[in-house]
Amino acid sequence: MKKILFVSSEAYPLIKTGGLADVSGSLPIALKALGHDVHILIPGYTSAMAAGDFQPLRLPGESKSPILLSALLPGSEVPVYGLVHEGYFGRGGNPYLGPDGKPWPDNAERFSLLCHFAVELASNRLGLDWKPDIVHCNDWQTGLIPALLNDEPQRPATVFTIHNLAYQGLFPRETFVRLRLPTRYWSPLALEFYDQLCFVKGGITFADRITTVSPTYAAEIQGKEFGCGLEGLLSQRKDRLCGILNGIDAESWNPATDPYLPIHFDGESIGKRLEIKATLQQHFGLPVNPDVPLLAWVGRLVQQKGTDLLLDIMPNLMNMPLQISMIGSGEARYEKSLLQWSKLFPERFAIRFGYDEGRAHLVEAGADIFLMPSRFEPCGLNQMYSQRYGTVPLVRHVGGLADTVVDATPESLADGTATGIVFDEATPDALLEAIERGIALHQDRAAWEQMQKTGMGKDFSWETSARQYEELYELALQDSLGG
Ligand code: ADP
Ligand code: GLC
Repeated sequence: MKKILFVSSEAYPLIKTGGLADVSGSLPIALKALGHDVHILIPGYTSAMAAGDFQPLRLPGESKSPILLSALLPGSEVPVYGLVHEGYFGRGGNPYLGPDGKPWPDNAERFSLLCHFAVELASNRLGLDWKPDIVHCNDWQTGLIPALLNDEPQRPATVFTIHNLAYQGLFPRETFVRLRLPTRYWSPLALEFYDQLCFVKGGITFADRITTVSPTYAAEIQGKEFGCGLEGLLSQRKDRLCGILNGIDAESWNPATDPYLPIHFDGESIGKRLEIKATLQQHFGLPVNPDVPLLAWVGRLVQQKGTDLLLDIMPNLMNMPLQISMIGSGEARYEKSLLQWSKLFPERFAIRFGYDEGRAHLVEAGADIFLMPSRFEPCGLNQMYSQRYGTVPLVRHVGGLADTVVDATPESLADGTATGIVFDEATPDALLEAIERGIALHQDRAAWEQMQKTGMGKDFSWETSARQYEELYELALQDSLGG
């Protein structure tokens, strides 16, 4: 049994902007099920604290208002700490972006506070009488933790997980000075990245072990195309770097019990999906038609996800026998163009902006094809949710998508291993070709149903991945003792 402090800037169901929250809300539960003592630390955003049964935790010697709230992660026995700071985490809205869509100007201070506090907690200096063996950090917001812990005697072992290398936590040199970080860390061998402070480098340089969320992405980030300038450092540390595929929360995402669905189904009753498809079409104001292929999208409308590729082929798609339903939000220019298309072709294309968990479940259960033409994708969760719900994912051969979807080729269709449509190039033509291939295959009912059933039968649960983390923690501990 190990004591693990899991630090993240979001955790489902308390606060979520993307897949990081799904992982932070389910991996700790899976580790707990393997017998480990896991505690989560997140910023005490007001909305997150209201979403759980948080109680003040009085720390010895503390006179003013509490700085730590604690609760169990809803539906689990895993304790969560919320770091309260009215100025930094008491504002509403998105955890990272202000109402203007730009990063909050004090993000460096906000997440530096989280990191410093995590170091105090991990060093058992808060009077909680709990000292972790492992501190598991996630993404740039926690990147300073391994760097700061490096100076501590008898420190816990550190693991740093990269969920998305494109977000690095870059700030000007003045910020480094203002944060009073150890001056020797202003070096390309530490936190400096081309004359900027780089939070994520703290994790990559100083953690005992580095992980990313799929084996393919672990290899990709060591090259120029996906390395975001950090490929050299990552290659240097490649003996400490590995990819562990994310799992999914198989309870929340179970078509046989999902409370967001009007009816339930499993691999033996795939036909019931048609009823959900009709509900989905109604929901989006599209004509109810069981035969027309319904393509869907749930996700951020940003370049990473290939939104521009989809936009480029909209003129072609709007002349094809299909419907498309989308939920998401993101860059204003994409939202604007998509809205225009939905007004021009309301019978074919519908989009709903914003975040809507229930609708996302309905889409996974009722659509025929799930679109994920990502330019890069560290892991991606929706393609796994889709397979579990009998929606055939259409993805680019990149990152975690390449690791989790088996392309429908004559061979894979014949041997029953196909689960989706996979294409290679990040070009509009390649995407269009893949969609045409998907629609043609959709006509072959027997082959389609076989793909659905194969996808539904796959095991994407967390247990396998949690066991891999367990082994990795062991290695991290050995590394930390060895120097
Ligand atoms: P990323 O973290 O890069 O956005 P992932 O595929 O790992 O991509 O995870 C995205 C998560 O966020 C999934 O759980 C997905 O269902 C959810 N999600 C994204 N956009 C929306 C939305 N508009 N409404 C509901 N859920 C969403
Ligand atoms: C990031 C990645 C996504 C991954 C998620 C959880 O947001 O973009 O691919 O699934 O983190 O690890």
